[in-house]
Amino acid sequence: MTKQMTLEDVRNKAREKLKAAQFCMVYKDCDGGPTRFCQGQHYGRRLGFGGIGSGASFHNNWLALRKLTLKMKLIDSDHIALSEPDTRFNFFGKDISMPIMSASVSGVNSFGGDSVITEREFCRAVINGCRDAGTIGWRGDTYTYSLQDSYGLDAIAEGKAGGVKIVKPRDQAVIKKFFKKAEQSGATAVGVDTDGAGSYAMRTNNKPVFRKTPDEITDLVNSTSLPVIIKGVMCVEDAVDAVDAGAKAIVVSNHGGRVLDHTPGTADVLPEIVDALEGMGVMIVVDGGVRTGYDVLKMLALGADAVLIGRDIVRAAVGGGSEGVFLQMDFLQKTLAKAMLMTGCVSLTKISRDILGEG
Ligand SMILES: Cc1cc2nc3c(=O)[nH]c(=O)nc-3n(C[C@H](O)[C@H](O)[C@H](O)COP(=O)(O)O)c2cc1C
Repeated sequence: MTKQMTLEDVRNKAREKLKAAQFCMVYKDCDGGPTRFCQGQHYGRRLGFGGIGSGASFHNNWLALRKLTLKMKLIDSDHIALSEPDTRFNFFGKDISMPIMSASVSGVNSFGGDSVITEREFCRAVINGCRDAGTIGWRGDTYTYSLQDSYGLDAIAEGKAGGVKIVKPRDQAVIKKFFKKAEQSGATAVGVDTDGAGSYAMRTNNKPVFRKTPDEITDLVNSTSLPVIIKGVMCVEDAVDAVDAGAKAIVVSNHGGRVLDHTPGTADVLPEIVDALEGMGVMIVVDGGVRTGYDVLKMLALGADAVLIGRDIVRAAVGGGSEGVFLQMDFLQKTLAKAMLMTGCVSLTKISRDILGEG
């Protein structure tokens, strides 16, 4: 009988490959600390897996979550006799097992390229692994992507279980073509990572990117039958503009700290964005530094509806393909359920800021 792979096996395999390729050590805590192997772009190191410049934005994501504590509540005063909290979530009409999805990571050349995993294998691993765990994979966009070679959309079409396609803030006509192809591929939603507007890699590879106006966002919303998501929101003004322009969801994100040095952590700005959007009927997603279900619970308690996982999904895909991604997602679901149980939250709707402290 062959031994089943564990998440630890997956991470050990990922460490072997990513360390050899000089990108990531797969530390126990992926905290973006200043002395970590991946950091140091301001001293001339490639961005790779790290954060831009000093890496402060990447590290701030982690710090913002770490300073929050969870309130243990175990006396069942409501007599609910809960044994397994309900983590199911509805994402644009699709029932999924948890409010946790893979982030729209792309560009395997930024973590070793074909020696580690090919773009096509990576996209398949993410989409299929998420599907097998009952959730949804998001796919990104980079300069190696075109309408012909749109690896993420191919994987979504093959996986037959939905997915989200996030397109870089390219020329309007190009984005619309990607959105059309996403409709044909069976995607659940589409979007633009507006924080990709500064991408040097896109520009230098003749794929220009732009800051988008509210009118341009509305134009994109009107071009597709799918819900449109704006990813890369770090302030109340952008959140309100995106929703007024017709976005159905926003992602509070600093792109894993990879686009602007010295931003706050996403958990630091999330509460004011949640408060500003109250009653507007928009889905609020967040990412950045989320490594366990305990972190997920903190984000949900701050008011997010759902959470995305970036670097840990890359490590899972590199170390174990779709099975690795399945194991990573399963771990997140189980730790979220455990965290909900121990804080007395029977369902997602029962999660509130009351379970948080600052320590
Ligand atoms: C190597 C790498 C490539 C990424 N590529 C994209 C991309 O193509 N599109 C996108 O929207 N975000 C991209 N991101 C950002 C992620 O979607 C996500 O916002 C971020 O990784 C979340 O932070 P975490 O890695 O700490 O979980 C990328 C992140 C990494 C680490």
